[in-house]
Amino acid sequence: MSSPKTDVDEFRKILNGANRILALCGAGLSVASGLPTFRGAGGLWREFESTSLATPEAFEDDPGLVWLFYAWRRHLALKAKPNAGHYALAELAKKKENFLCLTQNVDGLSPRAGHPESAIRMLHGNLLDITCYNKCGYAERNATRDPVCPSLAAAAEDYPPGQLSPLLDPSVDLATIKPEDLPQCPDCKRRGKTSLLRPGVVWFGESLPDGMLLEVDNWLYKDPVDVMLVIGTSAAVYPAAGYTNKAKRRGAVVAVINPDPQAKSGLDGKDFFFQGGADEFLPKLFEDVIGKLKIPDTAPLTEA
Ligand code: APR
Repeated sequence: MSSPKTDVDEFRKILNGANRILALCGAGLSVASGLPTFRGAGGLWREFESTSLATPEAFEDDPGLVWLFYAWRRHLALKAKPNAGHYALAELAKKKENFLCLTQNVDGLSPRAGHPESAIRMLHGNLLDITCYNKCGYAERNATRDPVCPSLAAAAEDYPPGQLSPLLDPSVDLATIKPEDLPQCPDCKRRGKTSLLRPGVVWFGESLPDGMLLEVDNWLYKDPVDVMLVIGTSAAVYPAAGYTNKAKRRGAVVAVINPDPQAKSGLDGKDFFFQGGADEFLPKLFEDVIGKLKIPDTAPLTEA
């Protein structure tokens, strides 16, 4: 198989002429905003692999620990600002009518960059949503309170640069948080039951939000796809990772943007590989469509 192309000008022309464009984004898109990835160098939280805390079993076993991990990710996401990569994608969505962005990110930075809601699907949910663990239907959308509750206050503390927070230091023991000190579902309580609340994200072994997969498949199979952008993802988690090959079978030229050279595996001579950060490459790659990117000073948080 011949190697993917790396010519920015050639890709710009293809994108400019493209009608239907699909993007799959992952944690790498938010690295330039200071948020950690799930795998590789950024994937360790204390002594735990981040992915090992993202399961219903981990929550059943120690809800306080899993909540602390997510409360810390919430705090980071609330403090973070969208970067040039988020803004470039949001602008592309405003210029290209048939562009759909599938993001695995739960940090909400794409919506905060102004990415139109109709042109993005948050496949793995939203870190700021809080839902009932027993699925009674209770949900708080875009809840920005930080800390989520007093027992999770440690996750909302900031330390000066260079000073490791005790929460992140595996040599400092964590106090066990009792389930009764975690957020409880008010609707279940009204019905005389008890249920914990949980972060509104999709954990391993859980289904993606209702109807979303069908909607994405409907988009995918409606017409051929011209370009598939694969941005900052290790493409290790399905069904998300499967969309690249589906789009390729629908005729798409695939462009992978990732600093890791391993991310180009599976690409052929019709495809493109841009080795580097999404914040650096996306504004350049989209410039013929979106012009020179302007980054606004503020990216407001909105509480629903
Ligand atoms: N720009 C672009 N890509 C980057 C950057 C950057 N600045 N920095 C790192 N990357 C790349 C890494 O090389 C890696 O390929 O981002 C990718 C991040 O991979 P993962 O940590 O595996 O994140 P992701 O692919 O989003 O994980 C998928 O796994 O645990 C679950 O639900 C979680 O949504 C997540 C899913």
